Amino acid sequence: SVRYRQQVIDHERIASYAFAFDIDGVIVRGPETIPEARSALRMLNGENKYNIKVPYIFITNGGGRSEKARCKDLSKRLGITVTEDQVIQGHTPMKDLVPAYKNVLVVGGVLDSCRNVAQEYGFQNVYIPLDVMKWNPSVTPYYELSEEEKQVALDVDFSKISIDAILVFADSRNWAADQQIILEILLSKNGVMGTVAQDPSENQVGLYFAHSDFVWATDYGLSRYGMGALQVSIAALYQEHTGRELQVTRFGKPQRGTFRFAEKVLSNWRRNTLTEHVENLNLEDADATESEEEAEAGGEAEGLVLQKDSSLVLELPPASTVYFVGDTPESDIRFANSHDSSWYSILVKTGVFQDNKIPKYTPKHISDNVLEAVKFAIEREH
Ligand code: G3P
Ligand code: MG
Repeated sequence: SVRYRQQVIDHERIASYAFAFDIDGVIVRGPETIPEARSALRMLNGENKYNIKVPYIFITNGGGRSEKARCKDLSKRLGITVTEDQVIQGHTPMKDLVPAYKNVLVVGGVLDSCRNVAQEYGFQNVYIPLDVMKWNPSVTPYYELSEEEKQVALDVDFSKISIDAILVFADSRNWAADQQIILEILLSKNGVMGTVAQDPSENQVGLYFAHSDFVWATDYGLSRYGMGALQVSIAALYQEHTGRELQVTRFGKPQRGTFRFAEKVLSNWRRNTLTEHVENLNLEDADATESEEEAEAGGEAEGLVLQKDSSLVLELPPASTVYFVGDTPESDIRFANSHDSSWYSILVKTGVFQDNKIPKYTPKHISDNVLEAVKFAIEREH
């Protein structure tokens, strides 16, 4: 029926292109929200002259709290609803490590926030450096646990625990203590504190970092060291001890694994957006009098296939273009440029990258801020 056909075609109000946003330096700077971010996302939610809704997700190297908590914070800051299905943090794909390791030491973040995240992911025995420091304060001679830290630390005898892997989830808040403990475990016999391996190459403890950002943009005028800088420091200490190069597995941008993970998240999110939109159209079934051929023809709007029983199956082609907006050439632009030509990198000047330098990785476009980036992309598409 014509009515049905028009309604199905109406789903075209959902763009065939999509966006992915870096967070620090694009949407926020530390506790501050970048002012243009709110209007940029409202524009993608449909407040644009084409009256079109553009699906988007967030891909941050940040972390330290659950995706749920991160969404809540983003929703509040931006005045929109952001759901867990739209957010990938540095450590999100580390869920895949759960079956591989029993005893993990999770490093970084505030107090025991990362322990809670790792437990929610399903890791069985999750320890944090505060537990080690409570077990034996002499491990870190210059640091006394605060009352609050003593509260969250577990009572564990680490002389009886074999750490299988060290997972650096978020930025360390105590480089001296964390590095001291990480190096001791990497040089130990079977990951047991207080021991030293005869030959460091015998040590099988896995070492994983949620990302490798050497620096990142906060509310301070200059960039601050990130987890990538901690990796440099730990590798230098390990080299000094052993003469060997440290073996590390990295997650986050610009890694290929993160890109594949992001593609899946984006594809699911686009499907959610389209399904919700089509359902909201209150599509009636194809008119019963309509011949099968007509019904077939009527349903063939891009992205929607009308089944014989007039149910709708969303066979969604991949996004025609994914505009990725970031502030750090070494992670964001490299990430968007390296893995699939349908991703279009846009570098903004509100974070790590400042206009006075040539970016190490060349973006397809440079915008002053995230709102200009969104406007540029929408105009480019229409
Ligand atoms: O700790 C996170 C920081 O290194 C960068 O985060 O959102 O810019 O990927 P983001
Ligand atoms: Mg950033």
